[in-house]
Amino acid sequence: MESVDFRELAGRDGDRVRTFWLACGIRIRPGDDDASLAAFSERNPGLAIIAEDRARIVGTALAGWDGRRAWLYHVAVHPDERRRGIGRTLVRMLEQRLTGLGCPKINLIVWQGEERAMAFWSAVGYAREDTVEFAKQLRAQTPD
Ligand SMILES: CC(C)(COP(=O)(O)OP(=O)(O)OC[C@H]1O[C@@H](n2cnc3c(N)ncnc32)[C@H](O)[C@@H]1OP(=O)(O)O)[C@@H](O)C(=O)NCCC(=O)NCCS
Repeated sequence: MESVDFRELAGRDGDRVRTFWLACGIRIRPGDDDASLAAFSERNPGLAIIAEDRARIVGTALAGWDGRRAWLYHVAVHPDERRRGIGRTLVRMLEQRLTGLGCPKINLIVWQGEERAMAFWSAVGYAREDTVEFAKQLRAQTPD
């Protein structure tokens, strides 16, 4: 962990960060293109964090704060770098920043069957809620 640096997502990161997400098993979706990431960072200053180890991306965590709740996205650590505490550190950094903004509650989505992700969220203090997610596409998804 001592060789890991944490910094804000920047415009130049687009291709590298999408490659990183694919390596972590995250599908690239609407919201992950350069324009969307730039809009996200502009609306959420300090809440899109990249972890780097000797200039290699090893982790990411994004939080969107809407004034009522915050939602976490793309909390991910490279498969070769897991269980070093990087995921926990990223989440704690976002929690600290969100607390400073007055955010009372953080939400996130875990896909069905992602037992390891669920174990991680439990370990870092998140409770499973008895909710079901509904969603609607407002524009057609571009092919992956
Ligand atoms: C989930 C993820 C971000 C965890 O990152 P990480 O850096 O390995 O997590 P940490 O090292 O900070 O782990 C903190 C604690 O979470 C728990 N934990 C983490 N991964 C776990 C796993 N695979 N199985 C069981 N518990 C786990 C442990 O209690 C761990 O503490 P310990 O190592 O001292 O036992 C990472 O596995 C990942 O990127 N997964 C794929 C993407 C994903 O599912 N993201 C979550 C989206 S909802």
